[in-house]
Amino acid sequence: SAFAAEITIDTAKPGAVINKDVYGQFAEHLGTGIYEGIWVGPKSKIPNTKGWRNDVVGALKDIQVPLVRWPGGCFADEYHWRDGIGPREKRPVKVNTNWGGVDESNAVGTHEFFDLVDLLGADAYVNGNLGTGSAQEMSEWVEYMTSDSKSTLANLRRKNGHDKPFKVAYFAVGNEAWGCGGNMSPQYYSNLYKQVETFLRAPKQYRPKIIASGGNDNDVVWSEVLSKELKKQTDGISFHYYTIPTGKWEVKGASTAFQENEWISTLSNTLRMEDHIQKNSAAMDKHDPEKKLGLFVDEWGTWYDVEKGTNPGFLFQQNTLRDAVVAALNFNIFHAHAERVRMTNIAQMVNVLQAMILTDKDKMLLTPTYYAYQMYVPFQGATSLPISLKDNQDYSAAGFKVPEISASAARAKDGKVYLALVNTNPNKSADVAVNIPGQVVKSVKGRVLTAAAMDAHNTFAAPQTIKPAAFSATAGADGKLTVKVPAKAVIVVAVE
Ligand code: AHR
Repeated sequence: SAFAAEITIDTAKPGAVINKDVYGQFAEHLGTGIYEGIWVGPKSKIPNTKGWRNDVVGALKDIQVPLVRWPGGCFADEYHWRDGIGPREKRPVKVNTNWGGVDESNAVGTHEFFDLVDLLGADAYVNGNLGTGSAQEMSEWVEYMTSDSKSTLANLRRKNGHDKPFKVAYFAVGNEAWGCGGNMSPQYYSNLYKQVETFLRAPKQYRPKIIASGGNDNDVVWSEVLSKELKKQTDGISFHYYTIPTGKWEVKGASTAFQENEWISTLSNTLRMEDHIQKNSAAMDKHDPEKKLGLFVDEWGTWYDVEKGTNPGFLFQQNTLRDAVVAALNFNIFHAHAERVRMTNIAQMVNVLQAMILTDKDKMLLTPTYYAYQMYVPFQGATSLPISLKDNQDYSAAGFKVPEISASAARAKDGKVYLALVNTNPNKSADVAVNIPGQVVKSVKGRVLTAAAMDAHNTFAAPQTIKPAAFSATAGADGKLTVKVPAKAVIVVAVE
């Protein structure tokens, strides 16, 4: 039976702006995340622009991708940018040691990456190599990309086809320095960071925000040490948290054909993001109470066992309604911390982990996660609004317990109030009354994403199995508006 919760949106007390970059993406040289998935090269029979697939780029434009992080991930700490410039046929072939030991042709390099972000209308987040690189190499890469001088490096960029400096929105010094990035301690990393950052020079209008690579999961020591040590030399600290159904890396759980125990464990695990952000932000508050530094969740999302018969190093997984719910729960958490969390990157954009798009040769499908991003577009750059949720209930199963309804509201750039509602319970709908003090709520209009099966997903044979449907509700004779949120659903509506 349905229950009746009540949500009140306080439009009189607007909070922080939700940075558009909270909806950022991540494209690593990993599996078919770039090669085949988006990049096919200019000579491919698959229709492309400058080597980038028109179908995939077109679909990504529809979700208004604001930012792309590249080239890794773990890959970044073995990437040497000079391998990826100049005539493609002359570029060295390397081994992708992190991801399947496959050949890395270096066909996609700096200029190709900026072609992609140009096509998408997105900003660029370039991740530097601290692990096997040097202060000199990073300093020269930043000069190559951003210098408007007549230096040899700036002229080399011009010779390679780009006259004006590239706009680099963010530049990170290394990745996961505690692990694949070099197994460092936070103190050691801080010292290296200070040295490197000193030499990252760019003209003022082209200067990227510089990111220090931080901790993951329950570890707040990185946020603690980095915010203390690097406060004057950084724009923010990154943080990674992946959602694993079993909570164990050895056997993570399947992407499809799971039971309710792994539906709820996945949602319960993903909701830990709230606690992680609170703790990291509190650690940063000690040294940065003004919140000058951002906490950048530059890797997050579901991580399942790879699909049978696929290269285990390629991290290829299906994507279901459960993933869309995971995405929406995280968006609602990020919005609530908009002051500190000013950028995030889901891992990853195409064919890797919790992807927006899966491809098979010339075919492509849009995942439920893609649709969650599409439905939440109005939240990009919107002003968050405080909400209170009365009479919310818990959904319990298999020894786990999560709140049934998750909600978020914001005033978008179009002036309208948008409301996002998630029902985590796969077994029953929920009635949610919507109030705005001082305003008569007449109707809500938008879209809902749900399906009969918890693991509803799109396949290349049936790519339209799950997609959003129109959703609306109007106030009753008593002037009260109630939204009936179906079981296991994500709703985004404009409130009028
Ligand atoms: O996203 C896949 C990998 O996960 C990234 O390369 C790494 O940073 C993290 O461990």
